[in-house]
Amino acid sequence: MQTYDAIVIGAGAAGLFCAGIAGQLGLKVLLIDHAPQVAEKVRISGGGRCNFTNRELDPRAPHKHFLGENPNFCRSALSRYTAQDFIALVQRHGIPYHEKHKGQLFGDRSSQDFIRLLLAECEAGGVQRRQPCAVHGIAFSAGRYEIQTDGGPVAAPALVVATGGLSIPQIGASDFGYRVARQFGLRVVEPRPALVPLTFDGEAWAPYAQLAGLSLPVRIETGSKKERMAFDEDLLFTHRGLSGPAVLQISSYWRPQAPLRLDLAPGAALEDQLRQAKAGSRKLIANELAAHVPARLADAWVRQDAGWQRPVNEASDKALAALAGRLSGWELVPTGTEGYRKAEVTAGGVDTRELSSQTLEAQRQPGLYFIGEVVDVTGWLGGYNFQWAWSSGWACAQAL
Ligand code: FDA
Repeated sequence: MQTYDAIVIGAGAAGLFCAGIAGQLGLKVLLIDHAPQVAEKVRISGGGRCNFTNRELDPRAPHKHFLGENPNFCRSALSRYTAQDFIALVQRHGIPYHEKHKGQLFGDRSSQDFIRLLLAECEAGGVQRRQPCAVHGIAFSAGRYEIQTDGGPVAAPALVVATGGLSIPQIGASDFGYRVARQFGLRVVEPRPALVPLTFDGEAWAPYAQLAGLSLPVRIETGSKKERMAFDEDLLFTHRGLSGPAVLQISSYWRPQAPLRLDLAPGAALEDQLRQAKAGSRKLIANELAAHVPARLADAWVRQDAGWQRPVNEASDKALAALAGRLSGWELVPTGTEGYRKAEVTAGGVDTRELSSQTLEAQRQPGLYFIGEVVDVTGWLGGYNFQWAWSSGWACAQAL
């Protein structure tokens, strides 16, 4: 049986980074993945450019950008290996990058730059890799983990599970990490798709399906008054429902049967604007609306009520108020999500109460670690999930 100081299962963002750092700290590390390629999600991330971190991440207040049953769990790892630390590493590797919207940092060229960075870090640490290699069983005895793999049995006193969540099964996602957690008696917070488009009942959605492809800035909200979450982002209409950053962000907080509230003309004071128009304009209401929302949306919207399909000076105050109210307070209940096939991440996962926030080691199972997305730590859209992968991988590597 080949033995190592640490075995890492999952050669994604967290696993590669952790293995590389641990190797550079002098450990003999084996990294195993069942997929033929490393870091498939890094490859497809950020539209192929990898949104690798976010400058606005405040490690002292992680609840601002992360959710989970204990959103402050990630504070320790995020403060010890920060966005600045990863940016410095990106600079050392000579990877050009730029800042987009709201602190999001993307590579200038391709996400392959980041895969090369991760592989180079592993090489610098002498990490051995087996891939594609399935794991068939894990046993713990006499203080070490014995792992049955396609390539024969291997053993180590430390086992790091970095197999991510359930999103995008077509490129290797599996429930492996949750099964390992349960095997060792650790609780798992029920996983659910997050950062995911939302869908609506076919018939009810029919009037809006014609808007597929339309994008506009909105304010979107969900939750009761006490727990309201709101985002000011772009919305995208699709054939089956809603997507775009606004919806992806709110989807992580949305619960089945809960309504969403959308302001499709944020900041426009629409009712006042339409009343003013009424005093001096003979234009169709749809044309007046088009000053505040895209013309396609204005056209589709006025078709919902005969009282809105006329010149603005002929409309009643009541009809204009109803129109403004419906555009700036559109309430609708999604029937579901597009599921793991389209979700960028999986919310839920290994219960953080089972893990040390300093080392990511299971409190009740010495030598067993969980890092990255498999843990019940979910970041907002915008580079937060990769930063959690880097920070949790780094924190774990220090403890191995
Ligand atoms: P990750 O999923 O990266 O890696 C898990 C690894 O484990 C995989 O290599 C898999 O093959 C392996 N594995 C799974 N089951 C196994 C088993 N049974 N045996 C062996 N190996 C197994 N985030 C962000 O911050 N910025 C961004 O731009 C994007 N963009 C983005 C786009 C898209 C389309 C998606 C789907 C996701 C993103 N994300 C993102 C999210 C980000 O990709 C994700 O949070 C991280 O990759 C999580 O890193 P992990 O290493 O935890 O899992």
